[in-house]
Amino acid sequence: MAPVPARTSEAIPLHTNTVDLAEADDFIRLYHSEHPGAGSPQRRMAEVRAEVAATGTYRHTADELAFGARVAWRNSARCIGRLYWRSLKVRDLRDLRDPKEIADECVAHLRLATNGGKVRPVISVFAPDAPGRPGPRIRNDQLIRYAGYRGEDGGVLGDRRNAELTDHVISLGWRPPVTRGPFDVLPLVVEREGAEPAMIELPRDAVLEVPISHPEYPWLASLGLRWHAVPAISDMRLRIGGVDYPAAPFNGWYMGTEIGARNFADTDRYDLLPYLGRRMGLDTSGVRTLWRDRVLVELNRAVLHSFGEAGVTITDHHTESDRFLTHLRKEEEAGRSCPADWTWIVPPMSGGLTGVFHRYYDKEELVPNFFPAGTVGVCPVIH
Ligand code: ARG
Repeated sequence: MAPVPARTSEAIPLHTNTVDLAEADDFIRLYHSEHPGAGSPQRRMAEVRAEVAATGTYRHTADELAFGARVAWRNSARCIGRLYWRSLKVRDLRDLRDPKEIADECVAHLRLATNGGKVRPVISVFAPDAPGRPGPRIRNDQLIRYAGYRGEDGGVLGDRRNAELTDHVISLGWRPPVTRGPFDVLPLVVEREGAEPAMIELPRDAVLEVPISHPEYPWLASLGLRWHAVPAISDMRLRIGGVDYPAAPFNGWYMGTEIGARNFADTDRYDLLPYLGRRMGLDTSGVRTLWRDRVLVELNRAVLHSFGEAGVTITDHHTESDRFLTHLRKEEEAGRSCPADWTWIVPPMSGGLTGVFHRYYDKEELVPNFFPAGTVGVCPVIH
């Protein structure tokens, strides 16, 4: 790909940039190289250039949008689940800019993705940024997030990671349930410059949850642990051919360790290991008894067991590691580089037991891709 000059946030705010023609050209060329029947790339490039000259941006065709979103997934270096990138269902909602309408479509997204437990990968693409006209944004980092209520003692009830978001929605007027719990679903907030933000409560039936139980420890079910079926990232900017879509929530299905080895286990999340270690009667007097490791295994068995019992799609880290190695092979056969970030790809437990641990990966960043909200430009260097 042609080099793209790095831009800094001091230079020009993102949404006043006109589309980078080199990046647009690269994307059109990529689209046509993977769609040999789609006509002449030169003609489409000329069209795009004329539209950018006139308006500062251009409108992707529906096919370009769907392809761009799928390739953004294919290029996501942190994702182990990319084997099924072609199956992503793309909802073209680019004409929606109104925060309330967007919030409602996010609910529709959840219903479609949840599919009664047979989770489907879906992305909903809302209005893009345009010169002088920034697109809408979703404030929540995932469509479904559990509240984290700060207590006076510095403790948090619920998901500590969401304490700031919880403060924010309360400041916007959200009223927590009368009895606060560790798994209260937060409302969704959608913002747009020059418009009232919308805050909506997710309807109960749009949020499928799984109660957590253990195949051998009946007491674990009585703790009331639960997790939601669909992980839907909603704070990343989708960038295709120089056009930024700041509101483009997307989901796959869970890998068990995300819940069992991170959300429930991290000390800055639910931090459940010490309590569970005591309940399991383990010797927690020192790290060398490996009591935490033992709890981690049982907690992760509980997560996989519970989703299975509930008929909700979930994958385990052994299966997903094998699938990712298959994906790498297929990408290589297609003559493509497959960028991957080892520190994200290797699962957070039993790393060395999985094939993905024992190798190196291409590191270059490719576009289309997903970028953290609030970042400007593409990335420091495009190769
Ligand atoms: N790790 C995040 C979570 O626990 C979800 C990230 C996306 N995961 C996925 N399987 N698509 O909620």
